[in-house]
Amino acid sequence: MASQAKPDIRHSAPVHGARHVAIIMDGNGRWAKKRFLPRIAGHRAGVEAVRRVARAALDLQLECLTLYAFSSENWKRPAAEVADLMGLLRHFIQSDLDEFDANGIRLRIIGNYKALDPSLVDLIEAAVARTAGNSGPVVAIALNYGAQDEMVRAVQSLASRVSAGDMTAAQIGIDDIDANLDTATLPPLDLLIRTSGEQRLSNFMLWQAAYAELYFTDILWPDFDGRALAEALDAFRMRDRRFGGL
Ligand code: FPP
Repeated sequence: MASQAKPDIRHSAPVHGARHVAIIMDGNGRWAKKRFLPRIAGHRAGVEAVRRVARAALDLQLECLTLYAFSSENWKRPAAEVADLMGLLRHFIQSDLDEFDANGIRLRIIGNYKALDPSLVDLIEAAVARTAGNSGPVVAIALNYGAQDEMVRAVQSLASRVSAGDMTAAQIGIDDIDANLDTATLPPLDLLIRTSGEQRLSNFMLWQAAYAELYFTDILWPDFDGRALAEALDAFRMRDRRFGGL
């Protein structure tokens, strides 16, 4: 009897049908407080969750996972916490890049990251360049990201094309705005998750979320894992997406 070839699951579409998942990673501070630990301990545990979820994204065959790590409003936090977050990010890139690269992950950044410390900008750009030729999923980290700031930058770029005479204001369409956002080359956003029980978008991917499904969970970010991501994708699979049609 001829042996039956096993289906190669890597090349079949994932059953959940989501290409791009974005996560507002919230609740690190409350996770630490519950344990009488300093907030930095919550952020450290948050980095562990980032590792788990990036691995799960591979298993779940996502094309893109976008993580909100530092918002353009997070500068309002005490300087020591901002420094801690930047230190964790620097350490994460240094320690995890080999694993990302070995797994074929392409690291991308959204947000005005160039305003960060120049040595961190160099590290980020080297990491993005090193993984750019990979063919696996994109892990996009939102750094100094604010959706309103992203839209202002897109409008400025289109306005300068109009004033240079390359296009007229009336010619500006949805595709032009899409193409000038930080997410221009990423797949459309399917599912936006926020952890920790808060139910707001906090200036995250406001344009891209136009038809994304929203999923809120009470799990605090440091407790989030591959199973929680799979549950969110199960919920996504049950949603009836009509995109304004019937
Ligand atoms: C929100 O929790 C979380 C943040 C503002 C930072 C998220 C950062 C990480 C998970 C670690 C660094 C990320 C990478 C990619 C290395 P919160 O502090 O606002 O929690 P709270 O609302 O309970 O106080």
